[in-house]
Amino acid sequence: MSAVPPVPVRSPLTGALSGTTAVLVGGSSGIGLAAAVLLRSVGARVVLVGRDRDRLNAAVSRVRGASAADGHDGAHDPDDAVLYVVGDGGDERVLAEAFDRAGHVDHMFVTAGGLSGAGPLAGLSADGIRSACDSRLQTAFTTARTAASRLPAGGSLTFSSGILVVRPAPGMAAPLSVAGAVETLTRALAVELAPERVRVNTVRYGRIDTPLLRSLPGLDSDEAVAAAGSTTPLGRFGTAEEAAASALFLMANHYMTGQILTVDGGETLA
Ligand SMILES: NC(=O)c1ccc[n+]([C@@H]2O[C@H](COP(=O)([O-])OP(=O)(O)OC[C@H]3O[C@@H](n4cnc5c(N)ncnc54)[C@H](OP(=O)(O)O)[C@@H]3O)[C@@H](O)[C@H]2O)c1
Repeated sequence: MSAVPPVPVRSPLTGALSGTTAVLVGGSSGIGLAAAVLLRSVGARVVLVGRDRDRLNAAVSRVRGASAADGHDGAHDPDDAVLYVVGDGGDERVLAEAFDRAGHVDHMFVTAGGLSGAGPLAGLSADGIRSACDSRLQTAFTTARTAASRLPAGGSLTFSSGILVVRPAPGMAAPLSVAGAVETLTRALAVELAPERVRVNTVRYGRIDTPLLRSLPGLDSDEAVAAAGSTTPLGRFGTAEEAAASALFLMANHYMTGQILTVDGGETLA
């Protein structure tokens, strides 16, 4: 029996992602959309996955527009540089379609997931708990199974979680326990998939200025976001681009696996 070769050595700089392809599960908004723009700017192909067709179409136009504007090769983008699939990231058929459309995929970044199941413990229904699991953990397992069977050696799977996992707020038991489970799953999968030379990491986010953040009570204007952000150690919330850049780092660096990378402007230290 021949030994499995080690994970391939590549430049760990994100420019080395040129020519690779990434599936972004949750690519139609916020951090996932910012990752798509950054990946195109370094010459990678992207496949955006999201449930809402209109939002996805708008996101595809934005990524193509940004790619053309930064003068990379956007003006002459091949037709398959920005692909998309409408559907739920928890559905294996949706992810299979994303891989089939791309032909070859190197990396997956999962930003799907929100605050399903939020609410005080006393009011939590079985359905609420189930919806928290379905929204994040089911998607994590589905993407993991797809990654395990279809990513090449050196490929990567990156999940998202949040700093409330280590600094909980009341009324968040269901979504936070599920996000914590995704962090544990990250380490378990890193060990399990290492023989395939597939890497698994999570980015744990602080408060990042995205449509999700602005959907929270009291954060629906620039002034409110600036005022709330001014109380953080660095005086503002993170940008979606800053949040997305960490995912590109994890994709590009072939020696990163099993890690929970915190991007929070120092908020967990305060
Ligand atoms: N922003 C923050 O301050 C913050 C802080 C901590 C953690 N996070 C985490 O970081 C991740 C990204 O957050 P964000 O702020 O970028 O959120 P966002 O702006 O709401 O974007 C989420 C994206 O995921 C898609 N999505 C949601 N559920 C999906 C599903 N089941 N299948 C496919 N696509 C799905 C959404 O589109 P559709 O709804 O159309 O499907 C949307 O494109 C989330 O997991 C969030 O919990 C964010």
